[in-house]
Amino acid sequence: MAQTSSGGSVAPQDPAAAARGVSRRTQSEIYRAGISGTRPRVPVDADALEAAARKALSAEAFAYIAGGAGAERTVAANRAAFGRWQVWPRPLRDVSARDLSIDFLGARRPTPLLLAPLGVMELARAGADVAVARAAASLGVPYTLSNQASTPMEEVARDAGRTPRLFQLYWSASDELNASLLRRAEASGCEAIVVTLDTHLLGWRTRDLDLAYLPFTRGLGIAQYTSDPVFQQLVRERVRASTGSATGSARSATGSERSATGSERSATGSARSAAGGDENSASAVPAAEAPVRLTAKTIAAGVQIARRGAAVTGSRSVRDNLRSPLPRAAVETFLDVFSTPALTWDDLAKARQWTSLPILLKGIVHPDDAIRALDAGIDGIWISNHGGRQIDQSVPTLDVLPTIADRVAGRVPIVFDSGVRQGSDVFIALALGATAVALGRPYAYGLGIAGEEGVREVVRNVLAELDITVGLSGHTSLAEVGREALRQV
Ligand SMILES: Cc1cc2nc3c(=O)[nH]c(=O)nc-3n(C[C@H](O)[C@H](O)[C@H](O)COP(=O)(O)O)c2cc1C
Repeated sequence: MAQTSSGGSVAPQDPAAAARGVSRRTQSEIYRAGISGTRPRVPVDADALEAAARKALSAEAFAYIAGGAGAERTVAANRAAFGRWQVWPRPLRDVSARDLSIDFLGARRPTPLLLAPLGVMELARAGADVAVARAAASLGVPYTLSNQASTPMEEVARDAGRTPRLFQLYWSASDELNASLLRRAEASGCEAIVVTLDTHLLGWRTRDLDLAYLPFTRGLGIAQYTSDPVFQQLVRERVRASTGSATGSARSATGSERSATGSERSATGSARSAAGGDENSASAVPAAEAPVRLTAKTIAAGVQIARRGAAVTGSRSVRDNLRSPLPRAAVETFLDVFSTPALTWDDLAKARQWTSLPILLKGIVHPDDAIRALDAGIDGIWISNHGGRQIDQSVPTLDVLPTIADRVAGRVPIVFDSGVRQGSDVFIALALGATAVALGRPYAYGLGIAGEEGVREVVRNVLAELDITVGLSGHTSLAEVGREALRQV
C-alpha cells in the first residue's frame, strides 16, 4: 500500500477511510497530520515508544516500569520468542471487511485486546487509573484494574464511565481482606476476578534495587487497601497494639523513630505475616525493623505517605496526617499482609465463596498448572511471566502457548501476555491459541508520554497493525486465524 503523502491510497481528506477499519483510519489520521508537519507525539515504533517514555518519566518511574528480574534475560526472551514465528502472506482472498471481535467471558468484544493490570501507574501520571480506564473504554477494550492501583476501584467505576473492567487480586495473608476486596470488585461492576499467582515473593528487580526505590514504601499503589474497611481495621489494630491507642502519636509518618510493629500480628490474628514479599513486599524493604535515617528525602517520603494517608485518617490536612501514626502503619500493614508465599491450590477454593464472578488465574506458564487450574474449576487461564519481572532466565510465554492451548482444548479462554509490543505480536499469539491478548508496558509508556490520549494512541496503533496483519494474511475474521497462518522459523 502506498504510504506517501502523494500516494492516492492514503490521500488526505479521504471520506471513505472511516469506513475501512481501524488500520486505514489510523493511517489517514497520522499521514494527514503529517502534511502540516505534525508527527505522532506517541511514537508508533515500539522501541521509540519506550525511549520517549524514558525521557518523559523520572528515573525511578522508568526503572520500575521497564525493569525486569536479574539480568532481564526473561524480558529479552519474551520478545525473542515472537521472532521464531513468521506470518504467511495470502493475497487474492477479498479481505475488504475484517472483523476483529472475539467472544470472551460471555460477551462479544470488539477487539481481542485486554489491558493487563499494572500497579502504581501514578508513577507515570496523576489520575492514571481513571485515565487508563477511559482510554480503554473508548476502544471497547476491557481494563484489568490492579490490586496495586492508585485509585479505589469504586472511584474508577464512578469516573471512567461504562468500561468493561476486571479486578486483579493479589491473594493477601488476610482472608477477610481478600473477601472484602472481591465483594467490592463485584459491587463496583467488575466482570471477572484475575488472581495473580506469580508474585508471592518480590522478584529480584535489579534496576529498582540499584535505585533503592520501591513505590509501596512511599505509600504509592496501596489505594485499594487504604480504602478497604477490613484493611483500615487492621491498621487501627496495629497502631493500638504498638501505642495502646489507635490515635496515639508514637510514630510519625516519616517513620524516623523506630518502627515497632513490623513483625507483630494483627490483634485479630487474621493477618499472617507474609514472610516473603511481592511486587511490593516486606522482606525486600528496609521498613519494619531498621531505623530510618532522617534526611531531606526521608521527610519528602513522609509527606508522600501522609498525603496518601488521608484514606485511613479521614483528614485532608497534611499536618494532621504527618502527626498521625495511621498512614505509616498503613504502609507497614500493607507490607505485612500483601501476599502470602504459603498459598496452595487448596486455598483457591475459598475464592468461590467470596465471589460469584468468573475467576481467571494469571501467571500460568507450565502446561500441568493449566490442567490443574481446569481441574479446580477455574474459568480462565492467563499465561504470563509478569513481563519477565519475577524470574531471570525463565520460560518465555509464547514458547508454551501452543502446548497449553492444545491441552486446554478450548474448555476455558486463554489470555496471553508478556512481550506483546505490536499488532503482529497479537496476531501470532492468537494464531497459536490465545483467546485474548493483554498489553502491558506499552500502554504505561503511552500514559507517561501523553496521559489518557497516550494510552488510546498506543492501543489504537496495536489494533491498527493487527487489522492490517489479519487482512494481508488473507483473513476476514479472527475466528479464521489458526496455526496455518504462521511458519515456524
Ligand atoms: C509496571 C508494572 C506493574 C505491574 N503490576 C502488576 C500488578 O499489579 N498485577 C499483576 O497481576 N501484574 C502486574 N504486572 C504484570 C502485567 O500485568 C503483565 O503481566 C506484564 O506487563 C506483561 O509483560 P509486558 O509488559 O512485557 O508485555 C505489572 C507489570 C509492570 C510492567
